[in-house]
Amino acid sequence: MSVLASAAVHAGEVEVLHYWTSGGEAQSVQELKAMMTARGHSWKDFTVAGGAGGNAMASLKQRVLDGNAPAAALIKGPAIQEWAELNALTNLDAMALFDKWDDFLPKVVADQMKYKGHYVAVPVNVHRVNWLWANSAVLKKAGVTVMPTNWDEFFVAADKIRAAGFVPLAHGGQDWQDFTVFETVALGVGGPEFYDKALLKLDKAAIGSDAMKKTLETFRRLKTYVDAKAPGRDWNVTTDMVIKGKAGFQFMGDWAKGEFLAAKQMPGKDFICMPAPGTANAYTYNVDSFAMFQLKSWEAQKAQGYLAYVLMGKDFQERFNLRKGSIPVHLNLNMDKFDECAKRSNVDFAATAKAGTLLPSVAHGMALSTAQQTAMRAAVNEFWNTDSMSVGQAIGRLQTLNAAVAPKLAHVAEKK
Ligand code: BGC
Repeated sequence: MSVLASAAVHAGEVEVLHYWTSGGEAQSVQELKAMMTARGHSWKDFTVAGGAGGNAMASLKQRVLDGNAPAAALIKGPAIQEWAELNALTNLDAMALFDKWDDFLPKVVADQMKYKGHYVAVPVNVHRVNWLWANSAVLKKAGVTVMPTNWDEFFVAADKIRAAGFVPLAHGGQDWQDFTVFETVALGVGGPEFYDKALLKLDKAAIGSDAMKKTLETFRRLKTYVDAKAPGRDWNVTTDMVIKGKAGFQFMGDWAKGEFLAAKQMPGKDFICMPAPGTANAYTYNVDSFAMFQLKSWEAQKAQGYLAYVLMGKDFQERFNLRKGSIPVHLNLNMDKFDECAKRSNVDFAATAKAGTLLPSVAHGMALSTAQQTAMRAAVNEFWNTDSMSVGQAIGRLQTLNAAVAPKLAHVAEKK
């Protein structure tokens, strides 16, 4: 029997929930499909469009409640724990031990993949969220010769870009995009310690501090540099404004780089990546990971096991991350093939981990319970959209976050 035929005997289908539908994302996930199908497994997309997975979780809940879970789902951060608590995920310890995952994963990442010490998910990358992207030609035409390193410089540059006839800041008015910009501003204005206290610990005094006032004022001021078509615009359509030279800047995680690369643009030449103003010494991380669900059929379990194995392999991590904009999650992986943005991200990840300024992105589900994230996102989104809402009112809203309670799956079941 040929190798291929024998592989096919053990082949099964893997159904994978994800929300990677933009140009760069689709090319990234294609790498994974190719590796799975090369081994004889069949790949079934369970795609739920919507940036940052906004719509994916509701679809997943319904499928799990119907007793028809996919093999794997793109689930991140504390949400992994929430699914594991419902006894929906499968234990990956045997493979983790055999492949020595603990030896090559950063502890901060490995911990998030485990429920009560047992692996239930696999990480595929590290995205940095606190980036500012820029179109080089637009900056040049506007007479902006250096990238802004603080907020005052940012606004001076943005004024010049506007005067030159471009949109200064590309932004898509969707709640998660507002939240992404907000947490970046909080980090840049208030610094890592403030971010930690106000956004991660939900400390009332920090939320009520001058740093939060300044954060909200700066965040609101950014809106005046955004075009009128922003509401509802998808993040990749927004990145395209920078790619096409219609806008100067965008605040977005480095999945945006996947779009620049898919458009054949070169970092340092056509576009620039820089840590957002005031955030060069800190790093907000966002780890994409696949949680593995309990499956009934033996073939499906085998295919799922192979998927987990592929996802953790260096080969996949390199191919995938070269397209996705992120960096591999493996410690000590050779970065030679990566561009300057990824190399910087890699160096900064290690440096900030040492300095204690490596922080989880709240906007991308790396910290807080799902209920608290949802409540914070809603408050930030309302502030962004409601000019009559004062900074004081927004602070009041944020100070109630500690009380946000998780809508449990059981609650969804009750409603059915
Ligand atoms: C995910 C990325 C994804 C982005 C846009 C983030 O939350 O981690 O993988 O590309 O959202 O959908």
